[in-house]
Amino acid sequence: MNFHNARFLAAYGTSAQLPPSNGPEVSFAGRSNVGKSSLLNKLMYRKGLAKVSSTPGKTATINFYDVDGADLVDLPGYGYAKVSKSEKGRWSELIDGYFNQERAFALVVSLIDIRHEPSALDRGMVGFLKEAELPFAIALTKADKLSKQQAAKQRAVIVKALDLPKGTPVVVTSAEKGGGIEELRALISRAVGE
Ligand code: GTP
Ligand code: MG
Repeated sequence: MNFHNARFLAAYGTSAQLPPSNGPEVSFAGRSNVGKSSLLNKLMYRKGLAKVSSTPGKTATINFYDVDGADLVDLPGYGYAKVSKSEKGRWSELIDGYFNQERAFALVVSLIDIRHEPSALDRGMVGFLKEAELPFAIALTKADKLSKQQAAKQRAVIVKALDLPKGTPVVVTSAEKGGGIEELRALISRAVGE
């Protein structure tokens, strides 16, 4: 899989609009502001392809990117307190609606900020992935904000809190500095079978 061959496909505001999968899908889930869009840009070697913002709630639609026939899917963030109730409802409908469809889920990348204990919503997300037996990996984000030592310690804390099934890949990443990006690309390529 050549991540240089990335292009934006489409954005959807409701799950009813989602077309059937047109290839294996790698979906990026995590709370608002955790760094989903930034990580996608880094993976795809494209600075502004996915819109990034320091204000949580930037990605309000499900955005599809094509990379060599596989789809990378940028999901809206969950858990952002400051959006209206109706907007929150629409987002959870989008995320739940997406995961409740019969789709070609090749890998779900569950993003967790390496600096924090997983929130109840993070644990809920991972719990759902385990329950649904979807193939998933954890990407710990913003590792550049911690020392190597602190990062290793936090990794252990988070892995324990999430009670991950044996063999679940955990990648320590930095969209800022590039750490873990090649490892994540390899994981994704393997998951989509290329
Ligand atoms: P929503 O679309 O709101 O759900 O957010 P998101 O998860 O897509 O986060 P986004 O990529 O927009 O990044 C949020 C903020 O975190 C931005 O200010 C980014 O610059 C910053 N950020 C993302 N990744 C990193 C990282 O690896 N290191 C550092 N230091 N900052 C990061
Ligand atoms: Mg985003």
